[in-house]
Amino acid sequence: MIEISPNQTNASPAQNAENPSSLSRRQFLAQTGAAVVACSLVQPGQVKGAEANSKINVALLGCGGRGQWIADLFQKHGGYQVSAVYDYFQDKVDAAGQRFQVEVGRRYTGLKGYLRLLEQKTVDAVIIQSPPYFHPEQAAAAVEAGRHVYVAKPIAVDVPGCMTIEESGAKATAKKLCFLVDFQTRAMPAYQEAVKRVHRGDIGRIISGEATYQTGAIFQQVDAQYRKNPQSSEARLRAWGTDRVLSGDIITEQNIHALDVAAWILNAAPLSAYGHGGRAREYFGSCWDHFAVIYYYPNNVLLSFSSKQVGFGWDDIQCRVYGSEGTIDTHYGGKVTVANREEPYNGGETKAIYQEGAVRNIAAFHEQIVQGDHTNATVAPSVRSNLTTILGRTAAYRRAEVTWDQMIQANEKWDADLKGMQA
Ligand SMILES: NC(=O)c1ccc[n+]([C@@H]2O[C@H](COP(=O)([O-])OP(=O)(O)OC[C@H]3O[C@@H](n4cnc5c(N)ncnc54)[C@H](O)[C@@H]3O)[C@@H](O)[C@H]2O)c1
Repeated sequence: MIEISPNQTNASPAQNAENPSSLSRRQFLAQTGAAVVACSLVQPGQVKGAEANSKINVALLGCGGRGQWIADLFQKHGGYQVSAVYDYFQDKVDAAGQRFQVEVGRRYTGLKGYLRLLEQKTVDAVIIQSPPYFHPEQAAAAVEAGRHVYVAKPIAVDVPGCMTIEESGAKATAKKLCFLVDFQTRAMPAYQEAVKRVHRGDIGRIISGEATYQTGAIFQQVDAQYRKNPQSSEARLRAWGTDRVLSGDIITEQNIHALDVAAWILNAAPLSAYGHGGRAREYFGSCWDHFAVIYYYPNNVLLSFSSKQVGFGWDDIQCRVYGSEGTIDTHYGGKVTVANREEPYNGGETKAIYQEGAVRNIAAFHEQIVQGDHTNATVAPSVRSNLTTILGRTAAYRRAEVTWDQMIQANEKWDADLKGMQA
């Protein structure tokens, strides 16, 4: 961990000259970090004046379901204030604006509205909850403008997007900014303890594993609207979850939760993958609804992966890895265990993970900002697992074996063709 004195500023000297008012606020936040953390332990009424000055001003980028839900959790944390909102659509931005009492002048729309928002000197950090296609460009612009970044998974839909996030994470560290990718599993103590035990050898030599993400169909409502108006690029944007390019397809957009845990346990990137998949549901859009991929990891470790986003009767986000001496079994929202003869571990149920994981990440982000911890440790594993999903997707689309190196070298960029949309 890089040790940063709380008295160091969060900006470079150049930023300092360009943006003096915002710097002095951020300087204040860094200097009063310990006090802010202490304040949150006291009844809100007792610290009202001090608190108002010390809150981190966050801007919400993407005001849909998760965006509004998570912005509410940021407010409930006590150390943040939602001070600006952005979405492509006016109705979405107004809904969030009203809910979080953001004045009309601080609500931004259109494809480039986030750039206008970033001109707001009082914004300290952005919470990116837009469709995945936009995450790399929005995160890069925020870091460029000297803002801390909290971003939803997946970080990107293609290889160049992953590389952009990797660069933004490194740039954030260099600029003394925080950059956190919100994977709930990695924030949960039961997962952390179980994976730690595997890494210290509790299941012996790892042989093979399986990662699965099975669920029913989603995005039906927006899909139905899209069907009524298939020529409309705005209807497509509202139905982004059914669109391969905007979402990354289900293996990247949704199934990443299972493959991220696999990458964490195996602590490696796959060497190659062979895949298959298809679409059974009568959905509009271009996403597949089921995948099956065999990943080949170093040391002859095999991981079989399968997923579905269709049908009824089985829902689970699971990763199980088999070793010569035991097994780790993890379920998002279910049990997390390590079985072996010597020292089995029962991490119990993780029923509250969806909210608890986010709450923990929101608290960690706050602590990193006020303590000046710019190590940004969530970036590298997020890039690795995102690329793992892209490797499996590429192999499945081709119904062929694709190596990691081939995928990286091809550096295939996806273009959503948003011509004609409001800037
Ligand atoms: N467990 C999790 O970590 C989890 C769960 C759900 C969603 N997510 C992620 O959160 C993000 C948002 O998902 P959601 O469920 O809220 O979807 P949503 O459709 O409810 O919200 C997305 C919002 O983004 C807006 N938008 C469209 N284009 C935009 C652009 N260019 N810039 C800014 N906003 C734009 C849409 O109008 C919509 O309001 C996605 O990246 C998704 O993968 C993560």
